[in-house]
Amino acid sequence: MHTLQTKHLTKHFDTVKAITDLSISFEPGKITGVIGPNGSGKSTFINTLTGLTPITSGSIGVAEKVELTSIVSNDMPVYGITRTFQEVRLFEQMSVLDNILVVTTCRGWFKSIFEKHSAYHLAIAEKVLKRVGIWQFHNKLAVNLSYGQRKLLEIARVLAMSEIGKAQVIFFDEPYAGLFPEMVKLVSEIMKELRSEGKTVILVEHNMDLIRELSDKVIVLDSGTLLAEGNANHVLSRKDVVEAYLGE
Ligand SMILES: Nc1ncnc2c1ncn2[C@@H]1O[C@H](COP(=O)(O)OP(=O)(O)OP(=O)(O)O)[C@@H](O)[C@H]1O
Ligand SMILES: [Mg+2]
Repeated sequence: MHTLQTKHLTKHFDTVKAITDLSISFEPGKITGVIGPNGSGKSTFINTLTGLTPITSGSIGVAEKVELTSIVSNDMPVYGITRTFQEVRLFEQMSVLDNILVVTTCRGWFKSIFEKHSAYHLAIAEKVLKRVGIWQFHNKLAVNLSYGQRKLLEIARVLAMSEIGKAQVIFFDEPYAGLFPEMVKLVSEIMKELRSEGKTVILVEHNMDLIRELSDKVIVLDSGTLLAEGNANHVLSRKDVVEAYLGE
């Protein structure tokens, strides 16, 4: 049901060919690892699939038979797509708790601050903040969190969307970068839980041990094109993949 497919997806910024002709399928109940050297188009690929960057050409297949040639970020909850950002994006001047409530209630940030929230939404917020271990900071402003706590808050936001049934396809853009080992372990557990719940999980990551541990399938991007696709051990032993990384 929640397979996500791209057909000949292309995104060029003037002369920069960030993504060229990518036809890829992401399956439910699987973690797809997306790897590639810096600047190979991983984040741009996610941006085109989450309405952040318009597509130059090609199409995206979502929610069974819907075929899109343009996608805007406001539509993401409708298609059940959510994400975390490589450079964490939070509502900095809102509390940790409100950062969760603003996405689950879909009321916009202004109303979210002033309206009373239902016990249902509060219970979800408490559950996900406890899951990632930052409930004790729920009244703190997001801007005052540490780097690792900020990353965990973004992950909690994804979990909250999942709890309310609005996250079937989830993109994680380098969620482990800068995390302490215990947090790495926690994030991996969460990835596996999402997979076992049947979510379509896409993980962009540079740490190959994590890619090996978690990925059911790996795709390798090189200069915006698909270099390799398949089982992690097979793909990571390919000479052209190793060379693409060493050639950075
Ligand atoms: N908004 C933009 N305008 C112009 N060029 C861009 C823009 N966004 C990305 N690019 C270019 O597109 C290419 C792919 O960048 P992207 O950030 O997608 O790579 P990445 O694989 O995520 O790299 P990293 O591993 O460093 O995060 C790069 O050459 C980058 O400079
Ligand atoms: Mg990136």
